[in-house]
Amino acid sequence: MDARPPTCVAIRRAPGGTTRKEATYVTEDRTPAVAENPEAAGGDEEPQQFKGRKNGLYSEVSDELAASMKSGWADTELHGLAPVPQAPYAAERRAKLSAAYPGERLVVPAGTLKMRSNDTDYGFRAASEYVHLTGDRTEDAVLVAEPTEDGHDFGLYLLPRSDRENGEFWLDGYGELWVGRRHSLAEQEQLLGLPVRDVRKAADELADRAADGVPTRIVRGYDAGLEAALGDVLDADKDAEFKEFLSGLRLVKDAWEIGELRAACAATVNGFTDCVRELGQAVATSERWIEGTFWRRARVEGNDVGYGSICAAGPHATTLHWVRNDGEVRPGELLLLDAGVETHTLYTADVTRTLPINGRFDELQRKIYDAVYDAQEAGIAAVKPGARFRDFHDASQRVLAERLLAWGLLDASVYDVEKVLELGLQRRWTLHGTGHMLGLDVHDCAHSRTEEHVDALLVPGMVLTVEPGLYFQQDDLTVPEEYRGIGVRIEDDILVTADGNENLSAGLPRRAEDVEAWMASFA
Ligand code: GLY
Ligand code: MN
Ligand code: MN
Repeated sequence: MDARPPTCVAIRRAPGGTTRKEATYVTEDRTPAVAENPEAAGGDEEPQQFKGRKNGLYSEVSDELAASMKSGWADTELHGLAPVPQAPYAAERRAKLSAAYPGERLVVPAGTLKMRSNDTDYGFRAASEYVHLTGDRTEDAVLVAEPTEDGHDFGLYLLPRSDRENGEFWLDGYGELWVGRRHSLAEQEQLLGLPVRDVRKAADELADRAADGVPTRIVRGYDAGLEAALGDVLDADKDAEFKEFLSGLRLVKDAWEIGELRAACAATVNGFTDCVRELGQAVATSERWIEGTFWRRARVEGNDVGYGSICAAGPHATTLHWVRNDGEVRPGELLLLDAGVETHTLYTADVTRTLPINGRFDELQRKIYDAVYDAQEAGIAAVKPGARFRDFHDASQRVLAERLLAWGLLDASVYDVEKVLELGLQRRWTLHGTGHMLGLDVHDCAHSRTEEHVDALLVPGMVLTVEPGLYFQQDDLTVPEEYRGIGVRIEDDILVTADGNENLSAGLPRRAEDVEAWMASFA
C-alpha cells in the first residue's frame, strides 16, 4: 500500500507543532480549486499551498473528482453522549489549578506527533499533565485556562473531524479515511465537559491574546509551535514552577485513579502469566519472545506497555534498564521481568518478578532471592500514613546491608550495619532507590517539590512501588565467582490506605516457594 494519499496535504501542523491553516484541493496547475472559507484558512493569510506527493502514483485531483468526493456521505454526528467517567475528577483537579494561579493564563498542551521514519510516526502518547486535567488523550490538543474575575474559564483546542469540503478527509495522510474517524468538536464537548475549539486556530489566538499583558504559563517541552507563538510573554522559571505544581497535583490519587491502577495491575498479572506459560518458546528463541508476549497482553487489555519491558535473562538482570531484550533465555539462570500494562486511560503498573527459568531456584539464587524478598517485606511494612516517604527505602536497604555483611561481601570486622548505611556501601550491589510514585507516569510526580514528595509523609491515596534488588555484575571481582551475573529485583505497586497499605499487584506470587509452585502449575 502506498503509505500516504496521492495528493498529500500537510495541513495539520506548522513547523514545530501546531497547525495554523486549513487547506484546499489542488488541481493540475497547482492552484487551489476550492477556497471557500478563507477566514477558516487563517484570516488574511493565503490558504495553504501543497504539492503532489513526489513519486506518488496520483499527482493531481480533477475538479470532477473533487466535486464527487465532497458529496454522498451520510451524517454520522453522534448526539447525547455521556461524559467520560473521569470528567468530574478532572474538573476537581482544574478547580485546584485555578485556585493556585489567580489572574494567570495557563496553557497545557497534549503534545504532537513525532516522525519515526518517512510517512510514519511514533505511537502518540499524550502528556500526563494534559491527560490528568482533561481526561482526553488526543494529539495536538491544548487546554487553556483563561483568567476571570473569580477563577478561570477552561477550554480545549482539539483537532476537528476531517473536512469533506476541502478534501482533507481523503487527501491528508492524517485524514479520517487514512487514520480513522475522530470525534467532532461537539462530541468532544459532551464527552469531556469543556468547551472545545479548533486547534488549528490555537497558536494564532493565543499569540493575539498574549498582547494583553496577562501573565501566562505553559507546560514546556510538548508543543514547540505553541511555545514559539507565546514567545516573549513566557518566563522559564515560572513555567518550571508550573510543571512542579502540576506534578505535585498528582501525588494523591482519587478513587477513580486508584481503580485505573488496579486495572493496570490486573492486566499486568495476566501479562506475567502469559510470559510464564510461554517460557519454553522464549528458551527456543530469545528474550524478545517475552517482550512480545507481554506487549500483546498490554495492547489487548490496555493502551500499551507503560514503559519498555525489561526482559533480562541471566546476567542481563544486572543491567537495570535492560530493554534490548535480544539475549538467550537459558534454563538454570534467572529471568528478571519488569513490565507494566498501561490502561486505555494511560495509568500504568510497574511490576517485577525474578523467575527461575527452569522453574526451581538453585541454592545461591534462592539465598539472594530471599534476601531481596525480606528487604521488600520490610519496605512494604514501612508504607503507611504518617511514615516518611524515605522510610520504606531505609527499611529495605537495612535488610540488604545486613545480608551483605552476613555473607561476607562487606567486611563485618571493619563495618557495622549503621556504618555501611551511613557510607552507602551496600549500594555497590543495590544500585537504585527502592521505589517511586506511580500513576500516569511510571516514575510519577517526579517534578514535584521535594518538600511534598521525597521529604514528605505518606498519606492515603498515594501509590508507590517497593522494588529492592541485588545485582552482582559479571565482572565484579569483589564477590565470589558464583555470585557474578546474578540479578534479582522484586517490585510491587503499593497503595497507601487509611490504616496501612494494600498491594495492588498481589495477584502475582512473591515468596520463592510460591513462585515455584505457580510456575509448576503451567508446566
Ligand atoms: N521499570 C522501571 C522501574 O522499575 O522503575
Ligand atoms: Mn519501578
Ligand atoms: Mn519496574
